[in-house]
Amino acid sequence: MNGRAIRSVHARRVWDSRGRPTVEAEVSLQDDSIGRAIVPAGASRGTREALDLRDSTARFGGLDVLGAVGNVNGEIARVVIGCAADDQAGLDQRLIDLDATPAKTRLGANATLAVSMAAAHAAAASLHLPLYRYLGGPDATMLPLPQIQIFGGGAHAGRRIDIQDFMVVCPGARDFGQAIEWSAEVYRCAGVLMQQRGSRFGVADEGGWWPDFATNEQALETLVTAIERAGFVPGGQVAIALDVAASEFGRQGRYTLALESRQLDSDALIELLLRWIDRYPIVSIEDPLAEDDAQAFARFTQAAGHRLQIVGDDLLVSHAPLVRQAAAIGAANTVLLKPNQRGTLTETLRAWQAAQSVGYAGIVSARSGETEDTTIVHLAIGWQAGQIKVGAFARGERMAKWNEALRIEERLGGRARFAGAAVFGCNRPKAPASAGR
Ligand code: PGA
Ligand code: ZN
Repeated sequence: MNGRAIRSVHARRVWDSRGRPTVEAEVSLQDDSIGRAIVPAGASRGTREALDLRDSTARFGGLDVLGAVGNVNGEIARVVIGCAADDQAGLDQRLIDLDATPAKTRLGANATLAVSMAAAHAAAASLHLPLYRYLGGPDATMLPLPQIQIFGGGAHAGRRIDIQDFMVVCPGARDFGQAIEWSAEVYRCAGVLMQQRGSRFGVADEGGWWPDFATNEQALETLVTAIERAGFVPGGQVAIALDVAASEFGRQGRYTLALESRQLDSDALIELLLRWIDRYPIVSIEDPLAEDDAQAFARFTQAAGHRLQIVGDDLLVSHAPLVRQAAAIGAANTVLLKPNQRGTLTETLRAWQAAQSVGYAGIVSARSGETEDTTIVHLAIGWQAGQIKVGAFARGERMAKWNEALRIEERLGGRARFAGAAVFGCNRPKAPASAGR
């Protein structure tokens, strides 16, 4: 009998950082190894994501997950018991076949992903390896460049500001620990600055300051000031990354910037973003256009992709075929990787492999509804994605990830490398226009 065969699977309902129900799974192996994982939940979701299955009852605002939990404890457990936990692709294929729908609408991606991740943890435990090492082998020694949120907006802050994430990255940092130190200082200085200006209203869903700005551009100006107050050179040492999350305020080529009472068409939004890129040290923009505006997304990539990273989140939803489609028209040059957009680790990894094959970069990302689960940190290092996005430098569910990465960096010691400016920078090595070929 294979000691790594799954002996039992158990799911329970636990709670996320918004106080909403979510799914935790525990997988036990024949050799008594145990793995456990909790699934996160998004608020600004792409329409082509796999389904986050919620109950049809009114409990907890219609967000209960007892159905998904039941699916794990019933159908899924019956099919995966006896499977080898260290055959991730085989196990995930069983989950895919059992659900048998393109978007996990029958069993729920929250049900399948909980088991997929818990099995990986159990296999790693059985081999006495940390998860990143189990996933990536001895060469998985590169710590990712973190994107750290300073101001939260969009769907994460009552739409107080249109742009969803105002983040910093530290391409000038020497290692992961230093990137964290620098970001901590910028976060703190931004908070002090807003306190002094009377524009600080607590924190948003991912821990970024909940701002009270008159315009979206004021947030950019304030962020540059915060970087300077923290003692850094904007651009070279600490740069800006945005998640515009344009699908949240745009449809069919019409975009509404509610904060500024402005309506823009796709080209006007592109013009606005190009102006911001000229004026501010922005090195990465996620979802600059909406998911239903792929041609405009491609036009923006054509215009700016040689100068900065252009990330597809809602556009690509961690789905390999969509990555290949986007590459064929030259839209985006980087994929955001969120395992619950697909529902298994293997499918998420396939999206990353598809991205690499077309010359795109990758960012492993948390969701706005998170927990103490740190699996994504191990994915970012194990898969050598080069970048990670977790939210701000506040709230336990965010800090759990940063702290886990610090532990891993320390454990790797002299073998630790840092993605830093090498995977990311003002001059990307590959022009996006040729990425599809
Ligand atoms: P979500 O947002 O987790 O609320 O969907 C995160 C993102 O858009 O990157
Ligand atoms: Zn996003």
